Amino acid sequence: MRLSKVLNVDDLRAMARRRLPKIVYDYLEGGSEDQLTLAANPEAFENIKFAPRTLVDVSHRSQKVTLFGRVYECPIGIAPIGAAGLFWREGDIALARAARSANIPFVLSTHSFVPLERLAWEAGGPPWFQLYMPRERELAREMVRRAADTGCEALVLTTDVPVGANREYNERNGFGLPLRIGPGQVLDALRHPRWLCGVFAPAWLSRRNPMKLSEWATRRDHMSWSDFAWLREAWPRKLFVKGVLAVEDAQLALEHGADGIFVSNHGGRQLDGVPSAVEVLPQIVAAVGERLTIVVDGGVRRGSDIVKALALGADMVFLGRAAIYGLAACGEAGVRRALQLLRAEIDRVLALLGCPSIEDVGPQYLRAAHKDSAVVRPLPVGRVRTA
Ligand SMILES: Cc1cc2nc3c(=O)[nH]c(=O)nc-3n(C[C@H](O)[C@H](O)[C@H](O)COP(=O)(O)O)c2cc1C
Repeated sequence: MRLSKVLNVDDLRAMARRRLPKIVYDYLEGGSEDQLTLAANPEAFENIKFAPRTLVDVSHRSQKVTLFGRVYECPIGIAPIGAAGLFWREGDIALARAARSANIPFVLSTHSFVPLERLAWEAGGPPWFQLYMPRERELAREMVRRAADTGCEALVLTTDVPVGANREYNERNGFGLPLRIGPGQVLDALRHPRWLCGVFAPAWLSRRNPMKLSEWATRRDHMSWSDFAWLREAWPRKLFVKGVLAVEDAQLALEHGADGIFVSNHGGRQLDGVPSAVEVLPQIVAAVGERLTIVVDGGVRRGSDIVKALALGADMVFLGRAAIYGLAACGEAGVRRALQLLRAEIDRVLALLGCPSIEDVGPQYLRAAHKDSAVVRPLPVGRVRTA
């Protein structure tokens, strides 16, 4: 299928599936254990119903949002994705470039194959940086220093990975550290020669070999709020906690000086059985929404999902797999296509809802069941009305 024929994120997913070996596609697509939370993420969006208004002049529509004083083109960001270089050669650079040309934030994962400084240079500016905090303070200090020197505006501390998740498909496929290469993996790769020669071979041969991530990168069971307090001292710019699902943790993030939180279940890839972000979002917004910037991710595949999350009080919505389907399908052009499709969908939803500005989206556009749980935020901290 040609990119111009792609009509939605699911079409990109189908392309990605054809282009990637099973071992890599499973790594992208899978959740953890019985994948209950993975399934809960899209289901939660399906269960939210709109309450549109009619006979509203929607001839001038805007998706612009302002976070921390910066105007973004639309309420979408790209979440951190580890090992994005397995989906496309130097995939992080393609993601960052697509985000930059769309004027939206992109978060670089600690587990990128591309060094932060080079990515900033090649993408035309620094990303936000996601931190998996190493046990050794010196190492952590060094990462924070590099992010500061590169000019990153925001640091995102991921907190929902104290230990690696139980992902049995990875175990069965031999995907892990170190990578197990047997006849099954070789056959799988040979069936995808374009990926083998264009993506894997260059990554494998380069010094930035993906499979050399060290032990500290996966074990973080020592981390507590005192580490966060240390980070707050060390990092002067915007700081997010990623992986918040409890009101109490949102409050603790606020008390410890966070600027924002990612309400997130890591795309259903960590603790199986937790709810989707949009299920817990209204209570979190009610508790801290006026004092913290709140962004969400998990299961977003349509523009309507994004509008629903905003109506429940999110300031911005981040894409994980939706962006990566585009990346795996066609590199930077595929990511741009995913963003273009989602923006077009948001635009149409705004018109059909009778709400011309994304800044005015709120619980009044949801059916009663959701309206009750959502909270109207007249002046959220991160979102500023734009003309
Ligand atoms: C393949 C893959 C790798 C990921 N790597 C990271 C990572 O390195 N750091 C992190 O904080 N989150 C990581 N995540 C979680 C995403 O940032 C995000 O929370 C999640 O993908 C959102 O769900 P969605 O994929 O359904 O949109 C990863 C997700 C996927 C699918």
